[in-house]
Amino acid sequence: MVEFEEFVDEKGLVSEAVNILTTAGNLGLIGYTGSGKTLLAYTLARRLKVPIFPEQVCRDTDKWTLLGHDILVGGNTVFRPGIVVKWLQSEKGGVLYLDEWNTGDPSVLSVLNSISDWRRSVYIPELDSEFKRSERHFIILSMNPETRSEYSGRFQVDIAQRRRYVWLWVDYLSPNAEREYLWKLVGKSQEHKKCISKLVEWANRTRELYKVGELRLPVTTGNLKDAVRLVVEKGMDVNRVVEILSYMYPTEVEREKVLALWAKME
Ligand SMILES: Nc1ncnc2c1ncn2[C@@H]1O[C@H](COP(=O)(O)OP(=O)(O)OP(=O)(O)O)[C@@H](O)[C@H]1O
Ligand SMILES: [Mg+2]
Repeated sequence: MVEFEEFVDEKGLVSEAVNILTTAGNLGLIGYTGSGKTLLAYTLARRLKVPIFPEQVCRDTDKWTLLGHDILVGGNTVFRPGIVVKWLQSEKGGVLYLDEWNTGDPSVLSVLNSISDWRRSVYIPELDSEFKRSERHFIILSMNPETRSEYSGRFQVDIAQRRRYVWLWVDYLSPNAEREYLWKLVGKSQEHKKCISKLVEWANRTRELYKVGELRLPVTTGNLKDAVRLVVEKGMDVNRVVEILSYMYPTEVEREKVLALWAKME
């Protein structure tokens, strides 16, 4: 088990999301990479006291990845359930969490349609049975905004799908909240207050460039947590830590851009 991270809830998203899930049952999260969608989904499952059934959707994900398929075991065909069937079989309910669901095969939609609307069930021909969803079976979809090509999915999120979900926008923490969170994380060290402020400001500049498409990645809260720990807990030089972080950028052009942003900030 990994230690559970605290979700800093600046905008009161947790209670809104719980309200939506306990009435509509279906929640969509939209937000840029690293804005906290996955952490929020896990936080919600904990809050609702149900297990989470997560699936990272990708190009290869289709209807049968989610529902399950027949496999051969010692000459016999056995049905191997996919995440959706495991979730529906869970007696205490659960959160079905489909990360980047819009990047999957269009057949994913047909599964989602039947379990998201009033039918609230799915039929599995292999098992000749109908699986029903209870009041404690929640669905959370997540996606990145579709404004930029590398994040747009395999299919247009159709209107029919939109109306079955209530969508919440998840944004990066504000500089104030992020500073406060990171500072608390390292025991409110007075000595490192300035350094943390500078890192937060730098990260925010990378996020601006990311939003306009000049960088393919932003420096996220997760990245800053690592950076601050390396500086405060391990005594590393902050300039070196920034240089190390810059290696996550896939091209030299982007790397130089983020290093230049850092150099400009004194
Ligand atoms: N509100 C927040 N409170 C605490 N930590 C956060 C918050 N938002 C982001 N983080 C940190 O950033 C990391 C990345 O967040 P997460 O993986 O949830 O983002 P995501 O929106 O799911 O990104 P992606 O779209 O790439 O999947 C988290 O592990 C956490 O350390
Ligand atoms: Mg995620």
